[in-house]
Amino acid sequence: MKDLTPRKEELDPIEISSRDEIEALQLHRLKWSLKHAYDNVPHYRVSFDAAGVHPYDLNHLSDLARFPFTVKSDLRQNYPFGMLAVPRQQVMRLHASSGTTGKPTVVGYTKHDIEVWAECVARSMRASGTRRGDIVHIAYGYGLFTGGLGAHYGAERLGCTVVPISGGMTPRQVTLIEDFGASTIMVTPSYMLSILDEYRAQGLDPRNSPLQVGIFGAEPWTNAMRAEIEEAFDMHAVDIYGLSEVMGPGVANECVETKDGLHIWEDHFYPEVIDPVTGAVLPDGEKGELVFTSLTKEAFPIIRYRTRDLTRLLPGTARTMRRMEKITGRTDDMMILRGVNVFPTQIEEQILKVAGLAPHFQIELLREGRMDEMVVHVEANASDASPTARTACAESLMMHIKENIGISVRVDVTDPEAVARSQGKAIRIVDNRPKN
Ligand code: DLL
Repeated sequence: MKDLTPRKEELDPIEISSRDEIEALQLHRLKWSLKHAYDNVPHYRVSFDAAGVHPYDLNHLSDLARFPFTVKSDLRQNYPFGMLAVPRQQVMRLHASSGTTGKPTVVGYTKHDIEVWAECVARSMRASGTRRGDIVHIAYGYGLFTGGLGAHYGAERLGCTVVPISGGMTPRQVTLIEDFGASTIMVTPSYMLSILDEYRAQGLDPRNSPLQVGIFGAEPWTNAMRAEIEEAFDMHAVDIYGLSEVMGPGVANECVETKDGLHIWEDHFYPEVIDPVTGAVLPDGEKGELVFTSLTKEAFPIIRYRTRDLTRLLPGTARTMRRMEKITGRTDDMMILRGVNVFPTQIEEQILKVAGLAPHFQIELLREGRMDEMVVHVEANASDASPTARTACAESLMMHIKENIGISVRVDVTDPEAVARSQGKAIRIVDNRPKN
């Protein structure tokens, strides 16, 4: 893999300013953002008043802990435009998250918001090793999902040649990567695995592909998966994070030279990590739920939004801005099996240890009698794997899961292609327990 570390002169100066400078800017912007939300969004006025706080009560960054949280249901209750802080006519773009239950969550952007977003994604791409003039293949879905258009505007801002292919039609993805010579791909890590399978199906060696950088996000993925993709394609695999309520992709990104967690673009987003049960702010280094407050957003300011994502804050390395550790899961993806908390990423790590298995998997939850059971459906990586070889893989995976996670599960080793594929975010958990 090539060394793609950006030169210092290429960075935005704020990325490597002193902590004092960053915090002074954050305090100044946070005061503006709280006042903007309070003055223009009835929801925030009511919730701040109920908590007995006013934007003028914020004198230090730590005073933010006195302000109330915002949760997804607040956004749903204000569907569609109740959380907008500017007249609707100034909103240049809407996005929405699909949401499996109830109404979608709608977010809006002014012209300035779109520009800031493009800057944040361009910065993220530069941190990943992408350069002006590169060809960028964008296989995140285009549409109301923020992945496709978010990546698109960032790539244009960086000065790249953009291939807006969106998700789906996997054979054509491979053809166009090869024919156009894309050096960067932006896609969910699970769909990248489908692209990898397609390379092999077409008899192409992925290590000879033109790809040098993959910017993967929108769903949790592990360092074990990073190693798998980097080895298969001889490319850098870098993590990008974001959520529509806070902006979209580009809230935080890893640096290609360190790949040690995601630097949060702290000049635009103020992070906190809280205890998900008590709501207390935790010191940096402790694991909990990530909470974000926007510092510059005009149309859709968001104050102390509970993301449900679990991580911890770490000091800066390649940049002065703080890092968040790679996300292990969401509070709502946590399964509890006989008292043990389990996330799909933990299962992924164990699958990648077993040579005969492909990292396409789905976890099924069942109830047998009074007990919850977990079945891991995972593909054999060769269609000609014998029944004995499959049994050996299943036993090996059960043993790894028992030893490393501490739970007993059943393993079903399927044919290749038997586990449902998604062209965007993978669905890892299928809950077939009776609903009562
Ligand atoms: O997934 C935005 C995005 C698009 C990020 C493309 C990165 C790349 P939502 O659909 O609103 O937005 O989903 C946000 O996805 O709260 C996390 O649970 C999860 N997520 C996003 N990025 C990562 C990541 C987009 N790098 C939700 N690692 C978030 C783990 C991620 N989970």
